[in-house]
Amino acid sequence: MAYNLLQGKRGIIFGVLNSDSLAWKIAERAREEGATFILTNTRFAARLGETEKLAEKCNSRFIPADATDVSDIEGLFKSSMQILGGKIDFILHSIAMSANARKGRPYDDLNYEYFKKTLDVSAMSFHKVIQTARKLDAMNEYGSIVALSYIAAQRTTAEYNDMADAKALLESIARSFGFVYGKDKKVRINTISQSPTITKATSGLKSLRLLMEYTKRMSPLGNATADECADYCITLFSDLTRKVTMQNLYHDGGFSSVGLSDKVMEAIDKCFDVRE
Ligand code: NAI
Repeated sequence: MAYNLLQGKRGIIFGVLNSDSLAWKIAERAREEGATFILTNTRFAARLGETEKLAEKCNSRFIPADATDVSDIEGLFKSSMQILGGKIDFILHSIAMSANARKGRPYDDLNYEYFKKTLDVSAMSFHKVIQTARKLDAMNEYGSIVALSYIAAQRTTAEYNDMADAKALLESIARSFGFVYGKDKKVRINTISQSPTITKATSGLKSLRLLMEYTKRMSPLGNATADECADYCITLFSDLTRKVTMQNLYHDGGFSSVGLSDKVMEAIDKCFDVRE
């Protein structure tokens, strides 16, 4: 159901790769709610993915930009304001990449060039996007900037590797820049800490399916889906959340507040021979 929550709002959405991407679902919901926006990703991702297809469906435009490259981001903001006809009301940062994880380098044998890349792509790019927006005075008052995060920033999670450090930095940038940008321009900055969600890249990973089984059993409301993540993002882009800023907001069915659930107790009971 649509509520016209983003009627008249202009946005930039980073990170649409294919129809499983969280950013894809968020773009579709933003369109339903009346927003106009620019889709962006690297040139390489655009060749691999279906971003142009979504742009057509959403009556949107695709502008390539590497989120680690400040001159690309500047060009993106300038073109977006021109195409959309004014300053920007919302930005989605839905970007992550770890070469260490991809190449199977464990946390105690990291390649430091890859590690720098993980931090640059997955976290520092958030700072670059916000700093560029502010220097160009590209955001409207009470504009909303949201990045997607994961609970491994707070709690060590097996196999999440150096991405955990990137997410911790990402969430810290939301607080630090949320203060600076809120004070003078009333721009809000938050991160959403989303449940693990199947995407094309992760669907074949047994470890992700195991993790999702665990988080589902731990969470009173179960895992939050990609569509539900999109709904939550829309509320943060909308005027209904004008005083929410500098927060890491858990969107995880309650997982982050649970120590041990009855369902996990039952599973442990079945697997292990624990005697009274
Ligand atoms: P995805 O692979 O569809 O999205 C990642 C995007 O980052 C891709 O579109 C990729 O092209 C883009 N990207 C990589 N390097 C870039 C660069 N230099 N410049 C611009 N874009 C670049 O995967 P998904 O799952 O949709 O992830 C989106 C965000 O959600 C990520 O930040 C991820 O950590 C976060 N997240 C995902 C969860 C999941 O289980 N899928 C759970 C919690 C958070």
